[in-house]
Amino acid sequence: MHTQNTYILAIESSCDDTACAILENDRVLSNVVANQKIHEQYGGVVPELASRAHQSNIIPVVDEALKQAQIDKSQLDAIAFTKGPGLMGSLLVGTSFAKSLALSLDIPLLDVHHMHGHILAHFIDDGQEKPSFPFLALTISGGHTQIVRVNSASDLVVLGTTQDDAVGEAFDKSGKILGLGYPAGPQIDRLAQSGDPRAFDFPVPKAPDLNYSFSGFKTAVLYFLQRETKKNESFIKENLEDICASIQYTLIKILFKKLEKAVIQTGIKQVAIGGGVSANSGIRQHLKSMEAKGWKTFIPPFEYTTDNAAMIGIAGYFKFLEKDYAGLDTTASPRIHM
Ligand code: KG4
Ligand code: ZN
Repeated sequence: MHTQNTYILAIESSCDDTACAILENDRVLSNVVANQKIHEQYGGVVPELASRAHQSNIIPVVDEALKQAQIDKSQLDAIAFTKGPGLMGSLLVGTSFAKSLALSLDIPLLDVHHMHGHILAHFIDDGQEKPSFPFLALTISGGHTQIVRVNSASDLVVLGTTQDDAVGEAFDKSGKILGLGYPAGPQIDRLAQSGDPRAFDFPVPKAPDLNYSFSGFKTAVLYFLQRETKKNESFIKENLEDICASIQYTLIKILFKKLEKAVIQTGIKQVAIGGGVSANSGIRQHLKSMEAKGWKTFIPPFEYTTDNAAMIGIAGYFKFLEKDYAGLDTTASPRIHM
C-alpha cells in the first residue's frame, strides 16, 4: 500500500535525449539525462541513430534514476512517458518501455504531450513562485515555436505557431552556416555575450497574427555571409561575436514582437517561457526586462529547459491527480496536437 505521497517514474525519449526522472508529488527526486553525442558529427539528429541509442541507454538511465532517488520499483504509483510529438523511432522506445513497466508493475500509465511538459515544468517545486491560471507560455525549442494560453494544466490553447522552422532551428542552422557545431544555439548564446547586437541588420520576417516564420531568416543569414565573405574571406572569423550577437538580437526581436501582441490581445500579463531555447541568456534577460511594462515573468530552472523527464513527470502528476490514465493501447504519436 502506498501512502499519500505519489511516486511517478517519467520517461522522455522524443528526440535525441534519453531521460528518466522520479518525482515525489511535485518534487523531483532524480532527473537523469543521457545526451546522445553520436549526432554531433552529422550536424543534426539522425533519427535511426537516435532510436538505436535510446534502446541502449534506456535501461541504464532508468536504473540510475531509481538509484539516485533511492526508490524501489515497487514504491512507484504510475509511469509517465512522452507520447509525442517527436521522432517516431525515438518515441517508440520510451513508449514501449513505459507500457511494459506499467503492465508488469500493474500501475497506471500517463501519456504526456512533450510541449505540455515544457510548459508545466514551471510547476516543479523549486521554492520559486508559480504562475497562476491563466497565463501565456512561449514554448521555444528545436521543433516548436508557439504562444500558448494556459487555462489549466489540461486546457492549453495554441494562439500562434511557426509556419515553417522553429526558432531553435534558426539558431542551429545559422550556426551551421557559421561553421559552429551542433547544436549551435548554446554556442551562439556564449559568443553573443561579447559581441555587438547592432553590428549587423537582419530582417524580421512577416507572419500573420500571432504566428511566426523563421525560414527566411536563415536564408537572409546565408546570403549576407556569402556576400561578405566574397569581399573578405575571413569575415566570419573576424566578426564571429558580432554576427552571433546580431543573430540573437534579431531572433529575440522576432519572438517578443508577437509575444507582446499576445499580451495586449489577451490582457494576460503573466508570461512564462519553456523549451530548450529558453536556456538562452538573452531571451531570459529580455523577458525579465518586460517586468518594467507590468509583466510578471516566469523562467524555468536551467535543468528543466532542454529536454528532460522531470517535466514529463510533473505533467504526468497533474494527469494522475485527475485519474486521467492512458490505456495500454496508447501509441506514440509523432505529430499530435496540443
Ligand atoms: O527542447 P529541446 O532540448 O529539444 C527539442 O524539443 O527540440 O531544444 C533544443 C534546442 C536546440 O535547437 C538548441 O540549439 C536550443 O534548444 N538551445 C539554445 C540554447 N540552449 C539550447 N538556443 C539558444 N540559446 C541557448 N542557450
Ligand atoms: Zn523539447
